[in-house]
Amino acid sequence: MQTSQRLKDLPMSAIRKLTPYATKALADGVKIYKLNIGDPDIKTPECMLDVLRKWETNPIRYAAAIGEPDFLKALHQYYLKLGFDFIALENIISTIGGSEAIFMALFSVAQAGDEVLIFEPFFANYAITAGILGVKLVPIPTYIEDGFHLPKKEVIEKLITSKTKAIIYCNPSNPTGTVYTKEEVEMLVNIAKEKNIFLMCDEVYREFLFVKRPFVSILDYFKQIPEQAILIDSLSKRYSLCGGRLGILITLNNELRDGFAKIANSRLSGGLIDQMMATKMTDVGKEYTDNVQKEYRNRRDTVYKMLKDIPGVVVSEPEGAFYIIAKLPIKNSEEFCIWMLKEFRDNNETVMMAPAGGFYLTPGKGVDEVRIAYVLEVPKLIRAITLLKMGLETYTAKGKAE
Ligand SMILES: Cc1ncc(COP(=O)(O)O)c(C=O)c1O
Repeated sequence: MQTSQRLKDLPMSAIRKLTPYATKALADGVKIYKLNIGDPDIKTPECMLDVLRKWETNPIRYAAAIGEPDFLKALHQYYLKLGFDFIALENIISTIGGSEAIFMALFSVAQAGDEVLIFEPFFANYAITAGILGVKLVPIPTYIEDGFHLPKKEVIEKLITSKTKAIIYCNPSNPTGTVYTKEEVEMLVNIAKEKNIFLMCDEVYREFLFVKRPFVSILDYFKQIPEQAILIDSLSKRYSLCGGRLGILITLNNELRDGFAKIANSRLSGGLIDQMMATKMTDVGKEYTDNVQKEYRNRRDTVYKMLKDIPGVVVSEPEGAFYIIAKLPIKNSEEFCIWMLKEFRDNNETVMMAPAGGFYLTPGKGVDEVRIAYVLEVPKLIRAITLLKMGLETYTAKGKAE
């Protein structure tokens, strides 16, 4: 009996690849500072937890496939508050995390064998989802020296073929922390318009912003390209609800919307309790988001400054989200990250990072880079980056960096 070739061909999650080494180190009693995954440590709002504490409804029925009406209403309110008054309740579909939103969006715009353009480095799970669907992601390089901002229009247009169905981008970006300017977003909107392709934006980090300029959402352009624009969103990071599995798709394209609903029907329901908990998002005050922003800004400042001061490390200052890509003075970051988990100890502590190769499709790119998620409090981050610095020194001294 054989498993399918496509199963064998599926890339391994770059973020979770090193888990077995971490599990072993933990079993040996080693303390690991986990900077490898974007699971925020900030508390979930109390008003949401209260729903869990007071839950009485029995039995726990299915939720509506496209989202519980009360949850959709809360989401509608959220976007209305942001000023997007043209979004109707029917334009919103709730999904099982942003992950399912990515899956549904890619499935709906591209056949197996079709192409979707993506800016590299990108959130590694896009490649796994595209792999499941047989959709070909075509990488467009961006560079640390440019703060990972977008290349010129001609560079993007050159990669568009008869098979190109969409461009997907993530703003603010995981893994780079780049926040795209109005000019950049407008350029993508114009390309979508001129080439008649879909434009999908993943804005799950919308509230994590460290730049003064106003955030430019794809929603700002929905009326210009109503049939082509798709918003991918999630409450995982915004309200520290990663385990709640609450994602969102917004489109003004009725055919797409009905298609999303068809897919949603196939898996019957998202989590009822999760959605009821999240209806309380309308009660979460501005101070919650403000505090979260302030905390992450402090963390960004700490991590960026410390990394910049390590000899041989190259970083670009993140403008949003809670990730940073660091180019290290070593040849192979995966080997280095494994070595950190297997061999490096200081006071029986080490640090775990994500090797960045998995965030690229172009062979050889990102092999000397790591992605760091600054999802720990500042004192823990200081210790973690100190451990990284010590690790680099030891690794280099042992001659392993070459
Ligand atoms: C850019 C981006 N999009 C989507 C997701 C999916 O999040 P979830 O499925 O938890 O909503 C993540 C999670 O890390 C992410 O970083």
